[in-house]
Amino acid sequence: MNKRVITFGTFDVFHIGHVNILERAKKEGDYLIVGLSSDELNFSKKQRYPVYPQAQRVKIVESLRFVDEVFIEESLDLKAQYIQQFNADVLVMGDDWVGKFDAMKQYCDVKYLPRTPSISTTEIIEVVKGL
Ligand code: CTP
Repeated sequence: MNKRVITFGTFDVFHIGHVNILERAKKEGDYLIVGLSSDELNFSKKQRYPVYPQAQRVKIVESLRFVDEVFIEESLDLKAQYIQQFNADVLVMGDDWVGKFDAMKQYCDVKYLPRTPSISTTEIIEVVKGL
């Protein structure tokens, strides 16, 4: 069976935590689809644009050998639609989201995988700013 996995994120200032979650997400199936949040979506969420514009973030994530397909996530409210549109069998999210996507269990399996400790885009930005 060709099991299709979907995951979502911003993947700004790409770091080892991003590699790890995508690598582990792929192991949950055969084909990995990444919904990469748009610059506008990030602005509406965090009142700041990502450091890397979406076209660059897409190119970085697409270049990983365990990623098969990347699309732009335009709205947080369209998860159910994206899951169905891309025929996903399993939704993978980092465990910072535990419970938050349980409503998607009516469309596919939902798995929360552990985050890589001690690294995040926000922390990297803070460190760089402090130099
Ligand atoms: N992620 C992870 N381990 C980390 C950081 C992120 O597993 N140390 C996962 C998240 O759980 C998510 C995906 O990577 O599934 C994309 O996360 P994203 O929010 O883009 O990255 P963060 O580094 O968490 O960004 P921010 O600090 O802006 O929240």
